[in-house]
Amino acid sequence: MDLKSLFTFFLLLMPSFCSSHQYLMRINNILNTNRKILPTKQQLPNIDDNNNVTSYAVIFDAGSSGSRVHVFHFDQNLNLLHIGSDIEFYKKIEPGLSAYADNPEEAANSLIPLIDEAQNIVPQEFQPNTPLRLGATAGLRLLGVDTAERILQAVRDMFRTRSNFDVESDAVTVIDGSQEGSYMWVALNYLLGKLGKEYSETVAAVDLGGASVQMVYAVSKYTALNAPKPLDGQDPYIKNVILKGQEYNLYVHSYLRYGSDAARGEILNITHNSANPCVLAGFDGTYNYSGNEYKAYAPSSGSSFEKCRETVREALKLEAPCPYKNKECTFGGIWSGGGGSGQKNLYVATSFFYLASETGIADPNKPNSKAVPMDYKVAAKKACATKYEDAASIYHLVTTDRLPYVCMDLTYQYTLLVEGFRINPLQEITVTQQIEYEDAVVDASWPLGSAIEALSSLPTFERLMYFI
Ligand SMILES: *[C@@H]1O[C@H](CO)[C@@H](O)[C@H](O)[C@H]1NC(C)=O
Ligand SMILES: *[C@@H]1O[C@H](CO)[C@@H](O)[C@H](O)[C@H]1NC(C)=O
Ligand SMILES: *[C@@H]1O[C@H](CO)[C@@H](O)[C@H](O)[C@H]1NC(C)=O
Repeated sequence: MDLKSLFTFFLLLMPSFCSSHQYLMRINNILNTNRKILPTKQQLPNIDDNNNVTSYAVIFDAGSSGSRVHVFHFDQNLNLLHIGSDIEFYKKIEPGLSAYADNPEEAANSLIPLIDEAQNIVPQEFQPNTPLRLGATAGLRLLGVDTAERILQAVRDMFRTRSNFDVESDAVTVIDGSQEGSYMWVALNYLLGKLGKEYSETVAAVDLGGASVQMVYAVSKYTALNAPKPLDGQDPYIKNVILKGQEYNLYVHSYLRYGSDAARGEILNITHNSANPCVLAGFDGTYNYSGNEYKAYAPSSGSSFEKCRETVREALKLEAPCPYKNKECTFGGIWSGGGGSGQKNLYVATSFFYLASETGIADPNKPNSKAVPMDYKVAAKKACATKYEDAASIYHLVTTDRLPYVCMDLTYQYTLLVEGFRINPLQEITVTQQIEYEDAVVDASWPLGSAIEALSSLPTFERLMYFI
């Protein structure tokens, strides 16, 4: 009999006047006590110079273009504290882990400059109680399970030998789109001070990455209970999470192949090797994505917003039947989640932010800006009427490799919001990269959500956040 079943057995023998709540408290206490006496791990809280409980978290974001480390510092109430003059420490290196497919050691070693920096920031005596996590996103997933696992094992080993941080057995993993989406929702609502409030006061997030796009928002208990079962192989639509004592039913879906880079491939594939009305007049080249090559050139009449929009509609599979009775779908036969008050305040991020900042929809010098989806349409019409040879002088913030696709990308983002997700074209949205938090700005991205969850596994922060 293992320890846990022994405890459960023991609990069954306990007097029945204990309420179930007390039972749970006891299980926790017993399991915690058990953890504390394990010789290898110190589980006392970190106490700072002011006698306050404090904790750090070190989160690696291993993306396709590069690896980043975020170091966060929290007080006991889970408020962020300063690290130097900033709220988080952040550093990025290139290339990403997936560039070292044949050499796991080298992949792991590429992270050494980042882990060394993190160790310089977290006081030495706090390091054993500081959770370290690494989440690998799309890039590593594409290498296949075996290659990815070899790289992750090498990284795990390096973290354990090179640092004193707390590296749990599940700390270094590939994270999927819906996990990424729910962590991002947590980060955003945390920074906006919404956690612990009614679901209807929270905000929704749409994260447009390179490979996939995630929609996530809180729905009512009723909606959650009546959620359709996803089709085979898909994640469940609803995740339940407790945050600051409040239970949230998160609707989350990650649409693979509908991220900004992947969508270009889908859109170019609609026209197969012939002219594509989304490509700027005068451009003639190829677009490579995920091992596929697509011809990319404009019709002799040049690009056209209306014709491009038709092509995008087709790529989005807006006409696909909705497989759920009496439910609404977005596109490609995916349940919409039903909308509701958790979705009315919408934050759009990542590629939505980049493109908006580069094309004048949003102020590139501000961490976030208000806009309406219609702004993307106005910008798309202008871009689609532009010739490739003139584009560089009009869009000087857009890099050369993306210039031929400025009409395509704007038309895609507009159509995705308005026809895919059915957002009213005149509804105010927030185009966001960062959120103001006290006197600083903080990235509204998944690592902060992951940090909050990681801290919840420490005894002093127990149960501030957990998925059920
Ligand atoms: C930390 O300690 C200082 C000094 O004792 C106190 O003023 C402050 O409120 C404490 N902060 C927290 C979050 O407990
Ligand atoms: C392109 O579209 C065809 C069908 O129209 C499909 O069979 C093929 O898999 C697509 N190719 C890519 C790379 O998406
Ligand atoms: C796409 O891949 C082909 C073959 O590998 C290469 O010749 C071409 O230059 C690539 N195109 C771009 C835009 O990177």
